[in-house]
Amino acid sequence: MTQFDRNFLWGSASAAYQIEGAIAAEGKGQSVWDVWAHLEGKTHEGTNGDIATDHYNRYIEDVALMKKIGLKAYRFSISWTRILPDGTGELNSDGVAFYNRLINLLIENGIEPLVTLYHWDLPQTLQTQYLGWESRQIVHDFTAYAKTCFMAFGDRVKYWIVMNEPNIFTSLGYIMGIHPPGKQDDALFLKTYHHTVLAHAHTVLAYKEMGFKGQIGSSIAFTPAYASTSSKEDQDALQSYYDIGPWWYLDSYYKGCYPENAVAYYEAQNMELPFDEGDFKIMKTAADVVDFIGINYYQTAMVAYNPIDGVGISSFNTSGKKGTQKESGIPGLYKTIKNPNSDYTDWDWAIDPDGLRYGLLELKKRYGLPILISENGLGAFDVINAEGEISDDYRIQFLSAHIEACKEAVNEGVDLLGYMTWSFTDLLSWLNGFKKRYGFVYIDFESADLKRIPKKSFYWYNKVIETNGEAL
Ligand code: BG6
Repeated sequence: MTQFDRNFLWGSASAAYQIEGAIAAEGKGQSVWDVWAHLEGKTHEGTNGDIATDHYNRYIEDVALMKKIGLKAYRFSISWTRILPDGTGELNSDGVAFYNRLINLLIENGIEPLVTLYHWDLPQTLQTQYLGWESRQIVHDFTAYAKTCFMAFGDRVKYWIVMNEPNIFTSLGYIMGIHPPGKQDDALFLKTYHHTVLAHAHTVLAYKEMGFKGQIGSSIAFTPAYASTSSKEDQDALQSYYDIGPWWYLDSYYKGCYPENAVAYYEAQNMELPFDEGDFKIMKTAADVVDFIGINYYQTAMVAYNPIDGVGISSFNTSGKKGTQKESGIPGLYKTIKNPNSDYTDWDWAIDPDGLRYGLLELKKRYGLPILISENGLGAFDVINAEGEISDDYRIQFLSAHIEACKEAVNEGVDLLGYMTWSFTDLLSWLNGFKKRYGFVYIDFESADLKRIPKKSFYWYNKVIETNGEAL
């Protein structure tokens, strides 16, 4: 069996809004999530990140736990409005100081910091001024923010993730209307997604031009899929799914173009397309120098033909009541349906470790770049037993099977840089509140001191890291 590389990045991940809390502390400006989560009916049971896990005030305790579990790497995001409260302009030195303390502490403890520049918390000022991602001005302002971070932290941070799941925040924000700014407009979705592509491309190029020697990429939510039957209709549906979905998202970042079939489809719909030749030039130049593909992998999809009078886009199961997810799709093209061969989580996410192996191989074939798994994990209703322990064997089983799949992919030639579980501690889920837990560390959200309790999976992952992936 293949051994993971000696420098394999065994890690865990988080995002600023989901853990930090302290949303108005020490000069931090408001993000769109600080505002959105306080609008009536926008989040699950009115939950918000005002306090979250209070990581901003408890990062020392959290890093001590990371040291204890043996993390080689920790992925976290910078909150743009801690650094630049209004998105542009004056630097908030207290915000910079916080991330300096965190980065230095991680390094002192032998933990490689992997920094995400954008995990969805856009400065509200930029939303108010020019509608944020809807305007090309964002490309300029984002790149300036990124450069500020490179200058401040680039001497110590060697891995940068520019965007986290641009495909998710733009589709949820502009097609489904369930993330800020809550719009439902396909043309705006195409436009805002394209602006993330340009922001990523300019940022990658700026990093290289500034002479930094670390590695830089972005993380796309990647859901590989299968056709439900071998019929021509279902095979075509699968092709449409890929062209409009994963290849649209990944080709633009990693090849510098969009899939022709999907462009033709949008043109046939008379959709206004937001790109031109000048954009493609920049996208291609960036795609030539980008260092890795980041993927967040949770599940696969099963795809079938969707007649013209078939289902449209459905929302997610956010109740945790298994079996309540509805079919969802684009009429005339495809729909995603329940996979009869798969187990599902309580939130109806297909549990499919082999889909990870298969997906990694597809990416290797299409892009030939090193890959970082920047998120993978299981959301569950964890419970504390009478002894005060959390026996999350189901999570151990889930992660173990996915790491096994990584091994197989490495055996088949995939250049895998690392594996970040989602998440290190329990945290706030954007759409599911605090009850959908992912962490190795349980957080007692009921207790005043937000007590941290290592789960059974904590001790298991410690052994996995210690044995470089042998003891699964
Ligand atoms: C990814 C995001 O979409 O999945 C994370 O990058 C998110 O921020 C994670 O929390 C899990 O999703 P959910 O909806 O179960 O919290």
